[in-house]
Amino acid sequence: MLNLIDVFFVCIVVYLVLRWNFGSHWDFGDKIPGYNGMPIVGFWYQYFSVKFEDAYANFLEIAKPFDSVFKIWWGLNLILFIRKPEDIKILLNADESYDKPKKMYKTFFNRGLFVSSGEKNRLYRKTMSIILDSKAMQTYIPTINIKMKNFLKSFDEKLKENGDEMDISKHTLDFALIAILSSMFGCEDFNEDERLKFLQDVEELKKHESSISDFVEIIETGVEKNINKVESTDKKFYPPLEQIYEITKLINHFELKDEISTIVISGSQKTGKVIAATILMLAMNPNKQEKVIDELVTIFNGKSDQIMDERTLNRMKYLEMVVKETIRLLPPIPQISRQIRKDIELADLQIPAGVIVSFFPQIIHTDKKYWGDDADEFIPERFSDTNFSKIHPYAYIPFSNGERSCIGDRYAWNVIKTFLSQFLMRYRVTTKLKFAELKLYSLFTLNIKQGFMVNIEKR
Ligand code: HEM
Repeated sequence: MLNLIDVFFVCIVVYLVLRWNFGSHWDFGDKIPGYNGMPIVGFWYQYFSVKFEDAYANFLEIAKPFDSVFKIWWGLNLILFIRKPEDIKILLNADESYDKPKKMYKTFFNRGLFVSSGEKNRLYRKTMSIILDSKAMQTYIPTINIKMKNFLKSFDEKLKENGDEMDISKHTLDFALIAILSSMFGCEDFNEDERLKFLQDVEELKKHESSISDFVEIIETGVEKNINKVESTDKKFYPPLEQIYEITKLINHFELKDEISTIVISGSQKTGKVIAATILMLAMNPNKQEKVIDELVTIFNGKSDQIMDERTLNRMKYLEMVVKETIRLLPPIPQISRQIRKDIELADLQIPAGVIVSFFPQIIHTDKKYWGDDADEFIPERFSDTNFSKIHPYAYIPFSNGERSCIGDRYAWNVIKTFLSQFLMRYRVTTKLKFAELKLYSLFTLNIKQGFMVNIEKR
């Protein structure tokens, strides 16, 4: 049995070990305003004392009193939250803050591009950008168009079965998944139930990791089978696979699996949510919806069922402004973080290595200092070239920015515009939901507790 003196000595030893490892963070943290929480566990107790779905709103609330920087202790990790665009610019571009905090990001991506650090990440980025460049895009767009036409055919049936009010995100996520599987990986292996289960598992984060991994394994097996065919024949195959084949010369089997997982999950979740959120915002703003339709009618000139190329998609300027305004108010990635690897000067502080620095895009996107008094309103016109040129480039960061910004944004834009232009030309959307009443919560991506509920009728 331990007596009191033993307990005292154990406490002293534990304290000295912690002091040795975290002392510089404790001393630094003492100078920063914010929340200490309880010793050792820090702010965790606060997190677990609110309902999971209220945690995001709760965080936005506790951030309100701080103008520039505040801290929380997350267990033994010190996290600083920043909110000035000029500080975000430094964070997203400095070599000292290139890495992401692995513990926060590791859920599905293991060693892939999303989580990897340093030189390895730079190599992955260069490698993966081959399948997301403009040449690759030309091969994807026709497939995405065909999938959209199939989607519309089956959606008419679903409307008849389910009535006209529905959570549209279920359908847009499935479409985004189909688009990425077929256009990039030439993969048609999954039926609707399997796709929906995968999307549900990803949404619920860690709970069913093995089923997520099995899904990716099937895609990867298909990719490797096709790569073998590429190797054994001179005949040209599905073009993206030839590019992936080039990539496999640089990375191994496990790395390829992690990259597939990164691309499939990033591509389907974020893109699908953005499409659903835009439909919801247009349902809340019928006059903006009609402006989108006016633009589309002019562009299509009576031929909306034609295969669209990137040039046609680029002409959809008002639709683009609507999507940009949607992701200003509802950024799909709710939090962006970096772990400082070498001491850095940021936000007028000398931040020591190991500290995590984080920000919430939604806080910056709705800060009246940068967006004006109407920052909470849905006004796509603020993204006209003239109006947007007055906004600080780091006050708008839905795709992040700097060296580790999103590498899939161009692909995402093509899927988003293909879907929305075809869908909106065919259906009118309305909703009972009001923006101010939406309850937002954060899982892998930003979510709405009430669902993306819209009423849909044929035009
Ligand atoms: C509208 C859709 C999308 C949005 C809003 C979005 C947003 C973002 C954001 C904010 C980041 C930075 C995250 C961070 O620094 O913590 C990111 C990174 C990334 N995105 Fe996207 N993304 C979208 C679509 C896609 C698509 C379609 C793909 C792939 C096909 C993709 C692949 C990636 C990858 C690989 C990274 C990690 C880059 C790195 O860490 O070096 N994203 N995305």
